[in-house]
Amino acid sequence: MAVNYYEQVWHNGEFIPWDRATIHVASHVVSYASCLFEGIRCYDTPNGPAIFRLKEHTDRLLNSAKIYRMELAYSRDQLIQAMVELIRINRAQHAYIRPLVLRGYGAVGVNPLKNPIEVYLLAWQWGKYLGDDALKHGVDVCVSSWRRVAPDTLPAMAKSAANYMNAQLIQMEAATHQYTEGIALDLYGNVSEGSGENIFVVYNGKIFTPPLASSVLPGITRDSVITLARECGYELVEQNIPREMLYIADEVFFSGTAAEITPIRSIDRLVVGNGQPGPVTRRLQERYLSIAQGRAEDKYGWLTFCNQPAALAR
Ligand SMILES: Cc1ncc(COP(=O)(O)O)c(C=O)c1O
Repeated sequence: MAVNYYEQVWHNGEFIPWDRATIHVASHVVSYASCLFEGIRCYDTPNGPAIFRLKEHTDRLLNSAKIYRMELAYSRDQLIQAMVELIRINRAQHAYIRPLVLRGYGAVGVNPLKNPIEVYLLAWQWGKYLGDDALKHGVDVCVSSWRRVAPDTLPAMAKSAANYMNAQLIQMEAATHQYTEGIALDLYGNVSEGSGENIFVVYNGKIFTPPLASSVLPGITRDSVITLARECGYELVEQNIPREMLYIADEVFFSGTAAEITPIRSIDRLVVGNGQPGPVTRRLQERYLSIAQGRAEDKYGWLTFCNQPAALAR
């Protein structure tokens, strides 16, 4: 599948064409996965392109870099400004933005400290991550036989490329058995998350989601769902979730920048609820998308409007 990419790529402070955004295979990142990244959506709103929760994504990238002792030559504000500029220069109306921070070409060997740190910002057009029907009708998923990374192995709070080797195993196992996605358990057998999404369970009138200590990425969408669930008056509980709670839940859904809010209609071939997206999922999905797409008031200041000079000041 061809990438529907935007031509201009930001590299260490300069814009270069997509085809020149390349690295040498001897770069540290190729052998040792020393790369941190983000996935950010820019929505086509009535007031022009708007990046959803840009500041929070930038903060998570900087936190990932701190965990892995990677010092960036660019400040938070410079990165934020560069991403707005990326949208503007490419005249994008909507986009999926992929910031990358990686250890480049220099020394060989595991010790990363002698390799330069390269920063890239690129963007492409991306539709519905889990399929065109996913948001409307839900997806069929399985519990993976692969566990999420254990707490003292690879840090789950960092969005690092290395973690996505584990994600690939989960995703490939699911695909092999004709499921759209896999849900991983944590080291202790509690529910963790999907290969690229956080998870929420509606059970007995409350909404549950695993705590950060269950080896989950601190999802920006997860945080948005928590905020919106409380706004809607639902009780939201972060607690360990046993696997079997997935099977007896009234509703289960994924959250993620790419997946947005995707209902889950079956797990391990057991139907969730009545097999249709439930009322809580639908309400939160609509509330989330209406803010992200600029159809509702941006009361939490989640949107950065790229074509407005004031965008960067907020
Ligand atoms: C493993 C994993 N969990 C959760 C998420 C959801 O995070 P966010 O809502 O910030 O996109 C993602 C997506 O980036 C992910 O890759």
